[in-house]
Amino acid sequence: MSGIWIALIVLVVVVGVAAALLGAANRTDTTSATSSPTLGREAIKKDKAARKADPQQVVQPPTGKEFESVAVAPVSADIEPAEASLAPAPWVQPDAEQIGASRRAFLNRSIVALMGLGIAGFAAAAFPAFLWPSSSGGFGSKIRVGKVSDVEADVSANNGFLYKPEGRMWITLYPAAALPKAEKTYSEPELAGMRAGLVALYQKCPHLGCRVPSCDSSQWFECPCHGSQYNQVGEKKGGPAPRGMDHFATEISGGEYVVNTGAVIQGPPIGTNTTGQEAEGPNCIGASEEH
Ligand code: FES
Repeated sequence: MSGIWIALIVLVVVVGVAAALLGAANRTDTTSATSSPTLGREAIKKDKAARKADPQQVVQPPTGKEFESVAVAPVSADIEPAEASLAPAPWVQPDAEQIGASRRAFLNRSIVALMGLGIAGFAAAAFPAFLWPSSSGGFGSKIRVGKVSDVEADVSANNGFLYKPEGRMWITLYPAAALPKAEKTYSEPELAGMRAGLVALYQKCPHLGCRVPSCDSSQWFECPCHGSQYNQVGEKKGGPAPRGMDHFATEISGGEYVVNTGAVIQGPPIGTNTTGQEAEGPNCIGASEEH
């Protein structure tokens, strides 16, 4: 016998033994899974003795008939099906009053919230302007009117009365000869402009607030509402007004005439007449009785 045949026989024997061992292992697993485990004699004896002593304590495995009877038995009415416990709750009509109350509460809160937002928005927009007047050149701010010489030329070109609507003001010339009297009458913020030859007057009549126009013929200011009259620098000449026209604070900055329309200075008292200017022609408003 050649060596090849011997090797083949050995291989077949090994494979056969291995197959036999695997088959035995499979049988053992199946047996252990489906049948009762093998008990020792001692254990079987003890088990039997216990059954005789107290049959109730020993749990008897159910018989095939018992399994069958349980499987075909009808479901007891006491046992609620699983689906029943998961069924949705029955619909209940909502309480209309409760819905109305909730809606009213929602609307009330919305209105209050909107009002609050509106007030907050207004305050946010108004407060900065109130606390810190705009410096953009409108009324309430400092207005750079222009170079002093240019402003004086503009006043002369407008027949002695230069109106600046953005500042609600009139600008007129102040005669240098009257400065000594002015120094005794007016405040420093007024004098700053007067020394440069200019006066800035608030257009609002000190009587009841009408806008006071100029009168070309008399070269005065004459109020059409109740006839108050003021000379060219705003000193009262007649009518019911309680004082002369109000002034704005002024300054000269870098050669420019700057008027602070946020700083109104009360006009001079009745009887103030620093320039001595009389009407230079017919009055525009009938002379009123002086108060
Ligand atoms: S408002 Fe000017 S005189 Fe009355």
